[in-house]
Amino acid sequence: MSFVIRVEQIAAYVDREVKIQGWVYNRTRKGKLVFLLVRDGSGFVQCVAFKRDLVPEVFEEIVRIPQESSVVITGVVRADERAPGNPGGYEIGITGFEIVQAVEGEYPIALKEDHGVDFLLDNRHLWIRSQYQWAILRIRATIISAIREWLDTNGFINMDTPILTPAACEGTTTLFGTEYFDEGMAYLAQSGQLYNEANIFAFGRVYCFGPTFRAEKSKTRRHLTEFWMVEPEVAFCDLDGVMEIEEQFVSHIVQRTLKERAAELAVLGRDTTMLERVIPPFPRISYDEAVTQLHKIQAKTEDAELREQLTIAWGDDFGAPHETELTQLFDRPVFVYGYPTAVKAFYMEPWPDRPEVSKSVDLLAPEGYGEIIGGSERISDPDLLLQRIHEHDLPEEAFKWYIDLRRYGSVPHSGFGLGVERTVTWICGINHIRQTIAYPRTIKRVYP
Ligand code: 4AD
Ligand code: MG
Repeated sequence: MSFVIRVEQIAAYVDREVKIQGWVYNRTRKGKLVFLLVRDGSGFVQCVAFKRDLVPEVFEEIVRIPQESSVVITGVVRADERAPGNPGGYEIGITGFEIVQAVEGEYPIALKEDHGVDFLLDNRHLWIRSQYQWAILRIRATIISAIREWLDTNGFINMDTPILTPAACEGTTTLFGTEYFDEGMAYLAQSGQLYNEANIFAFGRVYCFGPTFRAEKSKTRRHLTEFWMVEPEVAFCDLDGVMEIEEQFVSHIVQRTLKERAAELAVLGRDTTMLERVIPPFPRISYDEAVTQLHKIQAKTEDAELREQLTIAWGDDFGAPHETELTQLFDRPVFVYGYPTAVKAFYMEPWPDRPEVSKSVDLLAPEGYGEIIGGSERISDPDLLLQRIHEHDLPEEAFKWYIDLRRYGSVPHSGFGLGVERTVTWICGINHIRQTIAYPRTIKRVYP
């Protein structure tokens, strides 16, 4: 008797009759044979209909079944190295075929057609069915699971932080505002960090993990207006301490993904050599040193346009081209620490005896990907913090509670935020962030 299995379990059912429930992804015919590539959400499997084995009406249905029709297929699992699919190497010899719904008319994003990316994004609700997008989103889910796993087993408590907030955390230029009853304006959270800082005084090590909003006007391959960020925060931790946590954390995420999602990475054609090297310790260079390196790289660059883009003076923030060049100097992620105070957020602890430098650190992903983490040691002195809030023109009223944290048992503390979509982009080895989330939000897109 056959029973329903999921395609990802198929290896356990060789020579047995099973049922799969799914959708027709692709169909080819070779005379008396019809090959259906069927997906069921967990994988893709080749199902073979042999004219001789089926009653003529059923064979005719299989010959004609349109792409994306929903079906229930019964058949015997065979191991065959040549069979395409995911996991590949297995096929099902069809003995029974039931149509749940036959698609009428043409499927809007038929296979193998070269659609423009805007068309595909307008049809994102269908595009996620394609094997490539499916592979990316499965990898994303594993990355998220690995993030939680590492934090949950290393003493961090998950604390959810609010999305509706009274003020900016990461600069006032990228706030999304909304009228909030009689309370004036509220803003969608740019970060949960400030609340994490309160939470560590109750729990020691915490993290928040949720959607994050930035009204980023930049239309780049690295920016979304809604993205997911995980933010760990640790009491009694300085800048060196936070770097040690980050390198353990990131290498766990990469190594677990390599182990569990090898098939999906193969669908993407990802060369995993560089990912295998993501093992601590990661190299560390100061911002000062990075600027010196960039000057050297710029002097050697022949491409005039790139040379122009690489122009940098001490005090400037890095743009994507700077980060890309810096990452090429290393075979694994690199920490750049000690950025100029002026280009970073208000809450960062100054460098001892060098107030123009902050105890900040970004982690740049290799192979040109650039920043995936931003973090720092936080100011622990209440007077300095208040001074910074004024210097950044932030409303003191909204930060009263935050300054309180420096009054009642202040300690050195540090934390960081890792952007999920930037991390997925890098691990997948793809060139645009918009494919790393099911329904991307950018300045030009809120549909579907
Ligand atoms: O460097 P950011 O702005 O740091 C913070 O928000 C800190 N409060 C984090 C902390 O210390 N708790 O953002 C952190 C990360 C970036 O490194 C990047 O990976 C991601 O969030 N990120 C974005 N990802 C996609 N689209 C955007 N517009 C992003 N802005 C930041
Ligand atoms: Mg940053």
